[in-house]
Amino acid sequence: MCGIVGYTGAKPAMPILMAGLGQLEYRGYDSAGLALQRRKDIDIIRACGRLSELRDALPKRSAANAGIGHTRWATHGEPSVNNAHPHSDAAGELALVHNGIIENASELKAHLAGLGVSFHTDTDSEVLAALIHHEYQADQDLLAATRRALTRTVGTWGIAVMHKDHKGEIVTARNGSPVIIGVGEHEMFLASDAQALVPYTRQVIYLEDGELARITARSYEVQDLHATRTERLPATIDIEATLASTGEHAHFTLKEIYEQPDALRRLMSGRLDERFATAHFGGLNLTPKELLGFKRIKLLGCGSALISASIGAATIERLARIPADAESAAEFRYRNPIIETDTLYFAVSQSGETFDSLAAVQEIQRKGGTVLGVVNVVGSSIARQCGAGMYLHAGPEVAVVSTKTFASTLAAFTLFALYLARMRDLAPAEGSRVIEALQGLPDLVQSLVEKHETYKGIAEKYADFDRAYFVGRGEGYGLAQEGALKLKEISYIHAEAYPASELKHGPLALIDPQTPTFAVVPDDDLLSKNRSTLAEIRTRKGPVIAICHEGTLSDEADDIIEVPRSHPATDPIALLIPLQFIAYYAALARGCDVDKPRNLAKSVTVE
Ligand code: G6P
Repeated sequence: MCGIVGYTGAKPAMPILMAGLGQLEYRGYDSAGLALQRRKDIDIIRACGRLSELRDALPKRSAANAGIGHTRWATHGEPSVNNAHPHSDAAGELALVHNGIIENASELKAHLAGLGVSFHTDTDSEVLAALIHHEYQADQDLLAATRRALTRTVGTWGIAVMHKDHKGEIVTARNGSPVIIGVGEHEMFLASDAQALVPYTRQVIYLEDGELARITARSYEVQDLHATRTERLPATIDIEATLASTGEHAHFTLKEIYEQPDALRRLMSGRLDERFATAHFGGLNLTPKELLGFKRIKLLGCGSALISASIGAATIERLARIPADAESAAEFRYRNPIIETDTLYFAVSQSGETFDSLAAVQEIQRKGGTVLGVVNVVGSSIARQCGAGMYLHAGPEVAVVSTKTFASTLAAFTLFALYLARMRDLAPAEGSRVIEALQGLPDLVQSLVEKHETYKGIAEKYADFDRAYFVGRGEGYGLAQEGALKLKEISYIHAEAYPASELKHGPLALIDPQTPTFAVVPDDDLLSKNRSTLAEIRTRKGPVIAICHEGTLSDEADDIIEVPRSHPATDPIALLIPLQFIAYYAALARGCDVDKPRNLAKSVTVE
């Protein structure tokens, strides 16, 4: 989703801004642009499509030492050069890049139009540029003008603004859309994602909602919307700058599938306690007594994070015997939820920036609830807003669809379930069995990853079909949801997930030889029920591909992918791997852009 970068210092700004946008490319975008500050002017260069198109449109060299840049993911107005950022006022005096949505854009536009201001794009961001320009006329102070404009604005923003008469100065502000200032040696950076800053500096200032800042090469000044100055010292961030390459792999998706054994090792490192058959967490900020006081657990997230939350809830409920369920963060926040102080809430988010998940956290906190983050990106908005929780430490995930962070989230909840279960009534011997299964997981996942040729053959066999069902029961249904989501996201095959028990209540009407069903069949109490489901499908001549435990099925399916048994609390992670590969290889066989599926963004920072 949209990305912002900025630079002011002594070096040429253009290559730094382009490198920064390159670091943000993975988030998904449809157009991009730069504003470069020349001696008495600002050059704005924009292009539709990938960054290479923008590179072609740029001058060979630019003497500018300050500038701002943007990758846009269209919300208001189609993807086009005209709607791409940076935007300007009608006189071309300032340049603005904006992430977020201005909700009162039409009212502001009508008001400004009444004052004779003309508009040239379909975007809400241009309205903000015009409003700041209008306010600027009063005192020629860019920071004050931006602040006054923002007090009249309703919505969300992460912005950066430059004016031709304020050389080397960038004004930035945040409300619901992240902005991070990078402090260098006689130079300053800014970005909407720390990933773009780490090649240059580890000293950062995270702006909070409702804050603005003025940065120059040697100074920064932070204030709120009432012009009250806030003293802010830079914090040191600790993330790797490793986005650029897929290494030996053809795609980031594949690379990240292969990274899962290591990601799982990192997640578990230092968190398993064999002596007491439990887990350790450094960041929950809750004592055992406080944890025992909770009567229910509620997990929130969006997309794959929501699906991993639903499997996590099932694992917590199974092991710790405490009611746990998962809900879409967006649905939750808009239904005026009842927040109970004896419910422990979790916000699950790889990026830590998903707008609806962040808003759900704020809703819980506003109503006095306790919420922990399960987040991959260190220092992200959700991590900071929660102030406590578990980091996944899966390393940067670049492909739009999540793979390794999904597996790591499942493992994180197994650890948490074990921790809570051992506080409640799980016997040490059973706790030790969970630990053993967790310890064996990285090697088990590695052995499954090595069987990729098998999954490839099956994916290619079904890649030409137009639709598919995914079914399962219990955690198997969660896996079916994830398998279907992955397949539809990257191969564009219509894939629908159903609880296996629901098949005969409707979907069976669509089963025919052209509709394959992928069934997740663990060796559990429901095995015989699942066998009956497969028989019902095959009676209707529907092809069945079963992802099952070794030795459980023989001639009940057309294709069988066998996975070794682990433990009910870790089985979902093993059963997940073939589903990831099926989506990947089906997408590849259909010639799709696996890492950057159409219309989707890695990090959804708007509602
Ligand atoms: C987007 C991505 C999904 C992701 C979801 C939640 O929709 O395309 O892959 O699962 O956002 O993202 P989060 O960063 O909160 O886990």
